[in-house]
Parts: sequence; structure tokens; C-alpha cells
Amino acid sequence: MITNQELEHKGDQFPSKIVSFNQDVDSIYFNTDNNVILKITILRDSLIRFRYTTKGYFSNDFSYAIDKTQSHGYNQLEVIEESTFYLIKTSKVFCKVNKKNLKISIHDIDGFTILEDEIGFHWEESYEHGGNIVKMSKMSKDGESFYGMGDKPTHLNLKGKRVENWATDQYAFHKDQEPLYKVVPFYIGLHHNKAYGVFFDNTFRTFFDFCHERRNITSFWAEGGEMNYYFVYGPKMADVVTTYTHLTGKPELPPMWTLGYHQCKWSYYPESKVKEVTARFRELKIPCDAIYLDIDYMEGFRCFTWSKEYFPEPKRMVAELAKDGFKTVVIIDPGIKIDKDYWVYQEALAKGYFCRRADGPFMKGKVWPGECNFPDYTNPEVREWWAGLFKELISEIGVKGVWNDMNEPAVMDVPGKTFPYDVRHDYDGNPCSHRKAHNIYGTQMARATYEGVKRFAYPKRPFIITRSAYSGAQRYTSSWTGDNVASWEHLWIANIQMQRMSISGMGFTGSDIGGFAEQPSGELYARWIQLGVFHPFCRTHSSGDHGEQEPWSFGQEVIDITRKFVELRYELLPYLYTMFWQYVNEGTPMLKPLVYFDQEDFHTHYRTDEFIFGNQILVCPILEPNALGRRMYLPKGNWYNYWTNELTEGKKELWIKTDFDQIPIFIKEGAIIPKYPVQQYVGELQFDELTLDVYYKLGKEKSTVYEDAQDGYDYNKGRFSLRTFTLNGKEKELIIQQHKEGTFETGYSNFKINLKALPFKVKKVEVDNEKISLDSLKLNGENTLVLYKDFTELHIIGA
Ligand code: GLC
Repeated sequence: MITNQELEHKGDQFPSKIVSFNQDVDSIYFNTDNNVILKITILRDSLIRFRYTTKGYFSNDFSYAIDKTQSHGYNQLEVIEESTFYLIKTSKVFCKVNKKNLKISIHDIDGFTILEDEIGFHWEESYEHGGNIVKMSKMSKDGESFYGMGDKPTHLNLKGKRVENWATDQYAFHKDQEPLYKVVPFYIGLHHNKAYGVFFDNTFRTFFDFCHERRNITSFWAEGGEMNYYFVYGPKMADVVTTYTHLTGKPELPPMWTLGYHQCKWSYYPESKVKEVTARFRELKIPCDAIYLDIDYMEGFRCFTWSKEYFPEPKRMVAELAKDGFKTVVIIDPGIKIDKDYWVYQEALAKGYFCRRADGPFMKGKVWPGECNFPDYTNPEVREWWAGLFKELISEIGVKGVWNDMNEPAVMDVPGKTFPYDVRHDYDGNPCSHRKAHNIYGTQMARATYEGVKRFAYPKRPFIITRSAYSGAQRYTSSWTGDNVASWEHLWIANIQMQRMSISGMGFTGSDIGGFAEQPSGELYARWIQLGVFHPFCRTHSSGDHGEQEPWSFGQEVIDITRKFVELRYELLPYLYTMFWQYVNEGTPMLKPLVYFDQEDFHTHYRTDEFIFGNQILVCPILEPNALGRRMYLPKGNWYNYWTNELTEGKKELWIKTDFDQIPIFIKEGAIIPKYPVQQYVGELQFDELTLDVYYKLGKEKSTVYEDAQDGYDYNKGRFSLRTFTLNGKEKELIIQQHKEGTFETGYSNFKINLKALPFKVKKVEVDNEKISLDSLKLNGENTLVLYKDFTELHIIGA
């Protein structure tokens, strides 16, 4: 424990005693003798905001991260004054505020301490920049674990680590490297089977220390701005994550084609090369939905232009690709080439839309096009202008998605790899320096891009992908994890990053499959595809300055493995889309680390490799060369091996044998997994059958399938189809009940039901109380049954 004397010695200051307090509806203000004010706001019974100022008044309350459309409300709020503390009570937690020193502690309703200040809020005046370095320290509990924080390339459990948040272009980053591209100052603590979250909504450079410097202390601090954090109580990790995601917002449903497989490289050009690549996919029958054009499609890297030499007729090419089932996605970077003959530059210059240095000149920096100026996306007028620039690309040329890169923002050949601190930003009418706007710059660029693409793609849905992001960016964009490396270690990192992003509210994320820098072996590429098809965003990308990185670049065996796994992804599209729908509606992460799945099981707290894809499929990648299988941990429940249909009881470690064309995949007992036929791209086939893989269970299990028109906004008017299946297995009986919601008519009317691992011989089948002939039952190792109509109850009776 650090004493106040020691603190003073370090130049830190801390709040003195409380001299007054008052309540204003959902907010309680505590004023100290030395001008500190703590404002506590109750947003929900389990969501409380803590805001501190040392000036005696608060600055304008503004956040880019918080989703203002989300509603809040609580059941109970009571403020009680005791002799040494104030007590704030909601129906979920108690919060104590110490009268002597403003220290906070938060307890569950049984009085158990969840989170408690050590020094609590303290600060150091920043004589260099003005303002304060704001700090917070908390006691950490025995056996506490930490999760979240976005894209950190380190062990999933952050205990013992210190991390830094400063969006950085980190080419070929390595394990444990800090900082990376994204900034998600949100962590989840878990101790005594209770989870809570802290979201420190401060866009300055921030640090989090999880018992790294001092064994029992967690701390976080920012190089400026306010101490402003949200506390979320679980006790289930699921409640923490969904509440955080609710607070910072959820995306809209993406068009279904974005969940297909995407192919990218730096760069495919000219047009003939693009066509050669897309043709090869169709020829080899490896499904693919999107082809990406990296910076070389432009004229001298000028955004919103096309190279006349390489792409003389973009509209025709994009249309031809579309005819073959390929959507075209193009890159757009923030750097605008300084070129007096370039219209985008001219417009921004005339309107004064570029960021300026403190003393007036425009911020100038080198990126791909050479010297550039950079739009200030934190200015709403600039965002509006930027959105308008997409008109031609989207509504005329027919591009379907936009890829925003280099938006940390990245600047070449300067030590900090970004803007100098003095650069000015509008920050939506709260003018500030780059120290405050840096971490949000990429998100505001992606937001402006999203607004433009959405406007011109309407009535279709937009698709944006970004490299840099701050909390809340998920409302506008998907993301990828930047310039990784073709190494086995990076496969491990990708697996962790995607789980971490998922529980950090930013689920629509993927890695560059195969690795961006350096050349993967065929084996590594195959292993990466096998994992990548289970990531929400699934794209192969590479820097192109080494060998080839298309699925066919590694010989026949890898082609076959790639096809097999990409086909599996396409079969699972309705399952994946349903996962997405749950994310959009409930904030449920699409990938669930084992600790999220079963926080009560201590074994899960340090697991990194296995994760749950959606709710009922467990995936465990192979992360080493020459592996014939691997040791892994199966969490609670009973699980069917996807390849053998063998049932295994969970909560134990086991060895799973897999060949090169397999990775361990398990299906939760009782699950009903919906499948579409393999298509070469989303919407290729009209089909009249939905396959349901039914995994028998003695007992009950619920499964859902969400469908709609796969694009457009009709689903907001109720035109969706939500099927909820309840499976109830008995010793010699299996009942599947279906409940339907929504007015969308799915294109199929038949159901192909694969009864997996049925423990009895079928004697009788009834559909909605009508007996059907057993001739429709095929005994093909398992029992397959085709129903030629929709059903409410399917009853399978054994001999
Ligand atoms: C950056 C991106 C990479 C892209 C390259 C060229 O390195 O991270 O994905 O291919 O720039 O645009």
C-alpha cells in the first residue's frame, strides 16, 4: 500500500475529505475540500459511471464511444449517509464513498466486495501539456483474472501484464508487443466466480496495469483528460460483456455475403490479374464472395481515382465480377495527396478540411502517395463531405465495400509513426490537440466512410473494414488485426486476438489468413484457413512482396483442405448469420472464450486455444507443425466429435487425434445445426431445403435459426424468420418442437433432418401428429429424414 506521503513525494495529488454532497435525479455529486468533484451516475442497477474533476467544475461531457441511442434505467436508487461513508444502493450493487478520502468500494447485494480503491483516484499535474495525468488504482483480489482490451497480442488472461493504448501502425508486430492498432480501454475482472467490467472512456494515451507492477494492484491512467470510467457488474461475464456492448453500441446486420470467404493481396492488378484470380476460384470450386483492390488500383495512390492503365473501365469490370458472384471491395486511406490538380485535394483545401498544426499550417506527412494532408474526421462537416465522396464509387461503379487503412493515423519516416501532438482537431466542437484525438481518428474516418457507403448503397447494406478503432467503432465497421506475420506464433496470436476482440464488443474481426508479412508454408496456410473459417471475418491477405498466397499456391492437398473448410463455412452460413443476429440484438459475443462459457470452472481461466463458435460449436485449432492431433480441454457438458460423432463428457483434458485435413471440432449435445448447401458465393443457388443436423441428447436443448433477405432493411419491418427448435430426447424417443416468429418466407419448404447418434432404431415418425411413411427415412450410417413441409412438432419414436 502506498501512503499519502509517498504519493506527495512522487508529485501525485489526491482528493481530500468530502465537504458536501447533492443528488440530481440519477447523479450524485461529492465535493471535496480541495476542489475535487466526483459525479456518480446510475445508468442501470449494474452500470455505474464515475467521473472526477480536480477543477471544481466539469468540462463538456462528450464521448465518441457511448451509443446515445441506447436506453438506460434502474429499479432502485437510494443514497444513505453513514458516519464515515455514503452508501449508494441499487438493486444489484452497493457503492460506498469514503468521507475522508473519496475512496470507493463496490459490493454485491450480499456485501461481498467486488472492486475496491487502493489509492483510488489521484493525479499528477502535467506541466508540459497542461491538464492532469489522471490515475486510478484498485486492489486486486486473490485469484483474480483479467480479460478484454481489444487486440492485445498476448495471453488471453491479462493477469501480470501492463498494456498501452495508443493506436499504432505496427507492421509485423510480435507477441506481447505494445501498443497495436486498436484502442479498447475495457477490461473484465473475474474473482470468486464473479465478473465485473471497467470501461475507462478516455481517448488520450492510456495504460492498464494488471498486477504487473505490484502483485495485488490493478491500475489505469491516462496522459490527459478526465478520470471517467464505467463500472459494470455481472456476476456473469456474459452480463458484463453484453452490458458493455450495449453501452458502446452494436452494429447493424451485415449483408450475408460479407460472411463468405474474401480474397485479398497487396495488390491484384491490372484487371486481367483480378479476373485470373476470380476465375481460378470458380474453376477450382473454392467458394469466394469478395475480391479486394489494394492501393495500386488508384492513380498514384490518390483516393477516389482509378489507374487508367490498370483499370481503364472500372464500372464494366466491377459489373463483370458481380455477374460471376464477386463483390468488389476497395481500399481508401486517409492521406490525401498534395497535388494541386487533384479534385479531392482541391476541395478539402478550399473548404479548410485538413488537420492543422498548432501554429496554422496543414499537417503534412508522408504516406503511400508521398506528401499528404489529412482530413479532420472529428469535424462533422468534414465527415459529411467525406461521405459524399463515395457517390461515384458506390452508386456508379458498383463497389460494395470499403476498406479503411492507415488510419491510426500512420505517417511514414517519422519517429512516432503518426501526427505530432500539437495537431489540432475539431472533436465535434470540443477543439483539442492530437493527444486527445489520436485514438479516435480511425474510428471517425470509418464512421464517415460508413455514412457515405450506407447512403449510396441503400437499399442494400454497407460494408466497411478498418484497421484502427476505438471502443464503439463496431457500430460502423468491421475490422482486421493488421500486419501480422506468416508464423506459427502468429496463428496462436490470431486465435487469441479474435476471442479478445469478441468479448471487447468488436466481434466482426478477422486476421490476414496465412500472414501478411513473409511467406507461409502450405501447412501453415492450411492450418490458418482451418481456424479462419471460424472467425467472423474471413479473408486471406498478404503483402505480395514474397510468394503467392492464394489457396492454390501450395499444391493439391492444400487446395482440397481449403475447399473443404471454406465449404463448411458456407454450409454453416445460417448458423453464422444467427450468431451475428444475436450479437446485433443482445450484444452476445460471436466467439466465446472458454472462460466466458464456464467461468465457474477454474480450468478455463487460463485456456487460450479452444473457443465456442456461436453457442454450440467448439473449435480448437492446430497451432503446431507436423501435428497428428493435440491435447485440449473440453468444457462442461457433453460434446460430439464433429468428425466421428463420438460423444465425450466435458470438464476434462483429452488428446484428440486429427489428420491434416481436420482440426478438433465438437458439437454440443442436443444442438440442431442449420446448414445451407455449398454455394460458390452467397445467393448463387435457389434451394428448397434447409438441412438440420440434429445431435441427440437425453434431455432438452434449444437452438435458433435467424434468416431474412440477406441484405436490405426489410428485416426491421418484421420481415425475418426466427425458428426456435426445442429438442427433447428420451430413451426411445426424440421430439423436436419448432416455434416460428417473423413474416419472412424462407425460400425453401423442405427440411433435411440428419439424426446424428440416435441411440435407438426408428419405429415410427410423426409430423404434427400425422404418421409419415418410414420410406422417407434413409439409413445412411445415420438416419436422414426429408420432410416436405414445415413442421411444428416432429416426433421420432424408437423400437
Ligand atoms: C498496410 C495494410 C495492409 C495493406 C498495405 C498496403 O500495410 O495494413 O493490409 O495491404 O498497407 O495498402
